[in-house]
Amino acid sequence: MAITSPGPQPSAIDAMEFRRALGHFATGVTVVTYQPDGVDEFRGTTVNSFTSVSLDPPLILVSLGRQTRSAAALRPGKPFAVNVLHHGQRELAMHFAGWPKPETAVEWEVRGGVPHLAGCGASFRCVTRDVHEAGDHLLVVGLVEEFQAGGAPPLLFYRGSFEHLRTPVVPQPAAEVSIDFPELW
Ligand SMILES: Cc1cc2nc3c(=O)[nH]c(=O)nc-3n(C[C@H](O)[C@H](O)[C@H](O)COP(=O)(O)O)c2cc1C
Repeated sequence: MAITSPGPQPSAIDAMEFRRALGHFATGVTVVTYQPDGVDEFRGTTVNSFTSVSLDPPLILVSLGRQTRSAAALRPGKPFAVNVLHHGQRELAMHFAGWPKPETAVEWEVRGGVPHLAGCGASFRCVTRDVHEAGDHLLVVGLVEEFQAGGAPPLLFYRGSFEHLRTPVVPQPAAEVSIDFPELW
């Protein structure tokens, strides 16, 4: 059940300023990949609105602009993958955001019948469970069926630019991690 506030109100918010303010929230960068129904090709869309939603059942969410091809494709029941880019994959982020360069090599890997990008930091194979309308976007909730995580440092997006962690993350043995974050949320 969706709980919404009453009807549309005229907004005093400037769209460009709003976008600029949202950019202060640093995110990772993903590419949502899928094969459109009845089309003999794989497609991807760069997405930074990827969010974890639920652990049990395992649910994630991406917010897709209504005008995008991916929003049209990811109807309920549709399989797709979320590929988390690592710091060396900014060209792929640009490629799937609509700025392809001829020299960018895209290496596809089909797992569980779903196209993935090879060599990403992590990937989540999903099937669309619900689609919620939200302004000029659609919120696509995906049920995760399989995932892989390689631990490579992430590509980041902050204030309109691609970034990377200044200090490389050294994987810690579980016993040396002082705070058990999964317990906190
Ligand atoms: C870093 C970055 C993050 C993006 N995140 C999103 C997003 O979360 N949702 C969205 O709809 N578009 C997002 N975009 C824009 C889409 O990648 C772009 O509009 C793309 O061309 C849509 O492709 P499609 O029409 O084939 O789905 C993002 C672009 C960049 C560069």
